[in-house]
Amino acid sequence: MYLTRDQEKMLEGEQGPGVAKALKLLVSLGDVFEAEKLIPVVSAHISGVSYKNLGEAGVEWLEDLVKLDAKIKIKSTLNPAGMDLKKWDKMGVPEDFALGQLRVIKAFESLGVEPTCTCTPYLVGHVPKFGSQIAWAESSAVCYSNSVLGARTNRESGPTSIASAITGLTPLYEYRLEENRRPKKVVEVKTELTSRLDYSAVGYVTGKILGTMVPYYKGLGKPDLESLKTLGAACATSGGIALWHGEGITPESKSMNQFTKGLEKIVIEERDIYEAKEKMSCDIKDPIICLGCPHCSLKELNEAAKLVRNDKLKGKVMAFTSKGVYNEAEKLGFVKEIEDSGGFVYVDTCMVVAPLKEMGWKEIATNSFKAAQYCTNMGIKTKMGTVNELITEALK
Ligand code: F3S
Repeated sequence: MYLTRDQEKMLEGEQGPGVAKALKLLVSLGDVFEAEKLIPVVSAHISGVSYKNLGEAGVEWLEDLVKLDAKIKIKSTLNPAGMDLKKWDKMGVPEDFALGQLRVIKAFESLGVEPTCTCTPYLVGHVPKFGSQIAWAESSAVCYSNSVLGARTNRESGPTSIASAITGLTPLYEYRLEENRRPKKVVEVKTELTSRLDYSAVGYVTGKILGTMVPYYKGLGKPDLESLKTLGAACATSGGIALWHGEGITPESKSMNQFTKGLEKIVIEERDIYEAKEKMSCDIKDPIICLGCPHCSLKELNEAAKLVRNDKLKGKVMAFTSKGVYNEAEKLGFVKEIEDSGGFVYVDTCMVVAPLKEMGWKEIATNSFKAAQYCTNMGIKTKMGTVNELITEALK
């Protein structure tokens, strides 16, 4: 990969050993993918924050970067951690896990990263512009930023997004290039989508069929922001989709329409959605109802609050969101309404990256195929339902 003289000097340590270490990682990545050169990025979103995923080796890697005096150069936010940073005890997170997790957050803060701890940074002011080159990890956020915002990122990993945050650079390859953003299959949805669960199911089915290919959707109806975030999260989970286009919905769909001629078409019908829901649902009696994968928006917390208003939950309901959205929801009284009914609202974490086994979780119910897939992989039984269905059941 071609490096400018300044980049060579960075690699030799002119800007310190932390920058050199980060750049070395990006150069290796660029060489693997045969990138022509490095390009500047304007924002980073960093995943791999949970102590569950990082373990001691990961924390030490981060602490080493801090010791090397590394600092971020661009706006950088953090994905969810393994616990609510304040209410971890109430969540049932073991203390040794909490201590490890707090070390992780401290290391990121020392690097200068904003401890947003959310997979929806775009709901709390981190909204890259159309066409901007960014280095985002977290597959659902990658899908959202590429597809809905029209920014350009690859599916970065925790380490590569940190390296880009520290250097302000990334190798030029894959979805950063115009030609790789073209659709590879047309996906026609031939059924009315009436809930966010339906949108999540469409994403799940698409990923299963297409793997990592770029879909061009027709017939998605009029999805709200929340439906777009859940669709992307699901197709990034069941396949490895990083970018999708939705006719009349996503910003690049108009220019990409010309490349759909002659493409193979896949049809998604009501039966496919039904089967996907059935496949992810077990007959379980007392699940923890988990909302917020990806993290709840203000609208979703408002909807949940309305459903439980002046009523008492018999089942356990937990909503996961970001601190930024929580603060707004608290001002508007939504958090109080959910908590008064017996529900919980947690920030900084989610039903996947928390240490669920250690917390004794065995069954969950959710409206997100991403959450269901990950929980199933962890041996937790799952059930699918719309928020309305799940909360109505918990009120019975
Ligand atoms: Fe976010 Fe956790 Fe789901 S990170 S996308 S809520 S698995």
